[in-house]
Amino acid sequence: MKKVLGMGNALVDILVRISDDKMLAKFDLPKGSMQLVDKEKSQQLIRELHHLNYDVASGGSAANTINGLANLDIPCGYIGKIHDDNFGKIFTKDMTQKGIEAILFNGGQDTGIATTLISQDSQRTFATYLGAAVELAPEDLKESYFKGYDFFHIEGYLVQNHELIETAVKLAKKCGLKISIDMASYNVVEGNLAFLTKLVSEYVDIVFANEEESKSFTGKDPEEALLHISEMCEIAVVKVGAKGSMVKTQHERVLCKAIPANPVDTTGAGDLFASGFLYGLAHNLSLEQCARLGSLLAGNVIEVIGPKMDENRWTQIVSGVNDIISD
Ligand SMILES: Nc1ncnc2c1ncn2[C@@H]1O[C@H](COP(=O)(O)OP(=O)(O)OP(=O)(O)O)[C@@H](O)[C@H]1O
Ligand SMILES: [Mg+2]
Repeated sequence: MKKVLGMGNALVDILVRISDDKMLAKFDLPKGSMQLVDKEKSQQLIRELHHLNYDVASGGSAANTINGLANLDIPCGYIGKIHDDNFGKIFTKDMTQKGIEAILFNGGQDTGIATTLISQDSQRTFATYLGAAVELAPEDLKESYFKGYDFFHIEGYLVQNHELIETAVKLAKKCGLKISIDMASYNVVEGNLAFLTKLVSEYVDIVFANEEESKSFTGKDPEEALLHISEMCEIAVVKVGAKGSMVKTQHERVLCKAIPANPVDTTGAGDLFASGFLYGLAHNLSLEQCARLGSLLAGNVIEVIGPKMDENRWTQIVSGVNDIISD
C-alpha cells in the first residue's frame, strides 16, 4: 500500500459563523483570503467573536488532507510543530487516533490558531496566528522521516519559511517521493511568486490550485492557467468551486463536475479534494477517477462546519469511493 507524508502549519481552527461581512472589514480581512495576524490581534478577534456560537476543530491545510487520507485507510505521516497546551493536545489526539505517524515537535510559542470566519454565503476567511508552527525549521527535518513514503504533500501556507520547504522537498526527492503542493491562498501566491515558480518547476510533481490561486500564479484564466501549470509539472489540477475541477498532464486533460451539495462552510474543500485525488493516485486509478474522488470528498466537507466529518458521513463517503473505484 502506498503511503503519504504531509507537512504543514499545525493549527487548531476556531470556526465562527458571521451574520454579515462587516467584521471582515473591521479587522481588515479580505474575504476568502488567509491573513497572518499576531497573537494580540488573534486574541482580540476571538474576544470579539466569543459571543457567537463557535466550534473548535484541529485544522491546518496539509493536516486536513492527511486526516482525510487516513480516514480512507491510507497509511500516513505528518510533520508539524505545536506547543504542549490544550490546543496542542487537541491537534495531537486528532492525528494519533487516526493512526497517523505524527512527527510533532514542541515549540516555544502557543499552538497556532486559525480563526475562521464563515460568511452567510459559506465562504471562509482565515485570520491565522501561526504560533509554534512558525518555529518548524529545516534543522528539525531528518531523511529518516521520509523513508518508506511514496508521496509528500505540502501546503503553500508554509511559505513563511522558504528554506524549510527547500530542505523538505530535497529530502523527499532524495527518498524517491512524489511531491504535491496545494497553493493555499491567492495572496500567498502573489507574495511568493518567484519562489513558488521555481519550486514547482524544479521539485513539484502535482499542483493543486483554485481559480484565484491559478490566476495569481500564471496571470491567466482557469483553462489557460491549467495548461501553463501542466507545462511546469506532471499533473496540474485547477479547482473551480461549484463548477468542479480540471486536470491536465502531458497526455491527458480531464474535466470533472462537482457533486451536488448544500454548502454551509467551504473550509476544507480544497484540502479534502487533495485527499481524494491523492487517494486515487495512491491506488493507481485513472485521472478521471482521481478527480471524481476529489469532488466526492470536497462536496461532502462543505456540507459541515469545519474541515472534519463524522463517522456516518465517512461511511457514506467510503461507499462512494468504492463505487468510483469499481467504475
Ligand atoms: N458549491 C459546491 N458544490 C459542490 N462542490 C463544491 C462546491 N464548492 C466547491 N466544491 C468542491 O470543492 C472543490 C474545491 O473547491 P474550491 O475551488 O473552492 O477549492 P479551494 O478554494 O481550494 O477550497 P478551500 O476553500 O478549502 O481552500 C471543487 O473542485 C468541488 O469539487
Ligand atoms: Mg484551497
